[in-house]
Amino acid sequence: MKFAFLLAALVATSAPAAVDMAAAAAQAQTCFACHGPNGISQMPEVPSLAGQPDGFLQWQLVFFRNGTRKSPIMTSMAAMLKDDDIRGLAAFFAKQPPPRADTTAASDAALLSAGRQLAQANRCAACHQADFSGTQATARLAAQREDYLLKALREFKAGTRSGGGLAAMADVVYPLADGDLRALAHFLARQPS
Ligand code: HEC
Ligand code: HEC
Repeated sequence: MKFAFLLAALVATSAPAAVDMAAAAAQAQTCFACHGPNGISQMPEVPSLAGQPDGFLQWQLVFFRNGTRKSPIMTSMAAMLKDDDIRGLAAFFAKQPPPRADTTAASDAALLSAGRQLAQANRCAACHQADFSGTQATARLAAQREDYLLKALREFKAGTRSGGGLAAMADVVYPLADGDLRALAHFLARQPS
């Protein structure tokens, strides 16, 4: 409880705290190596960060730093970040134009329509917003890399990604089969941002 409160305090104070954008932009260069220029990822299973909600980015960096979200790479990256670095980096990437769905990528009509129906039936938009742009602690999904979306959904399903310990995504994916997760990733990666 106390732990949750401390996390909330960190995120809640982000808005009024003045962020040094020039310093954040300079520090973000180290992230581009994997997350791509300005946070548009070109690398398999590495998420784009551009246009993610500020709060979502802050929480995930805190989860990596405190070890509740596991990733060998990001755990060591986040270990070096102070609270002010996290606020700055989150503010920087939240302000970057989001990725655009790759309209040249091959698209499977049956998978796309299955994904659209599953997203409706499971009310993904209730939390992720109608245009899947995310809000506060909830991720942007529109035009995220398909391979990363599938990886994330599989990890929620397997229980290996729990982040803040909020059961939101675990409950959502619990009844879904792997084919459903593939359809959802296919659909969401093709949503306009
Ligand atoms: C050496 C490669 C590498 C570098 C450098 C790197 N990251 Fe990452 N990052 C990853 C990978 C891989 C993941 C996906 C982790 C997973 O889900 O397994 C990730 C995930 C993330 C996430 C979670 C995003 C989401 O949609 O869930 C955030 C936030 C993040 N990184 C921020 C940063 C920031 C800020 C920096 C720079 C300080 C940075 N990363 C540098 C590889 C890297
Ligand atoms: C009750 C609210 C809620 C619903 C409904 C919901 N989500 Fe989420 N989702 C979240 C939250 C909150 C997060 C951030 C999880 C975290 O911090 O660990 C998230 C994270 C994700 C992520 C990880 C994104 C990233 O960049 O790391 C994916 C993918 C995702 N959701 C897909 C879906 C899909 C697909 C559906 C519908 C089948 C769905 N969500 C329904 C709340 C929800």
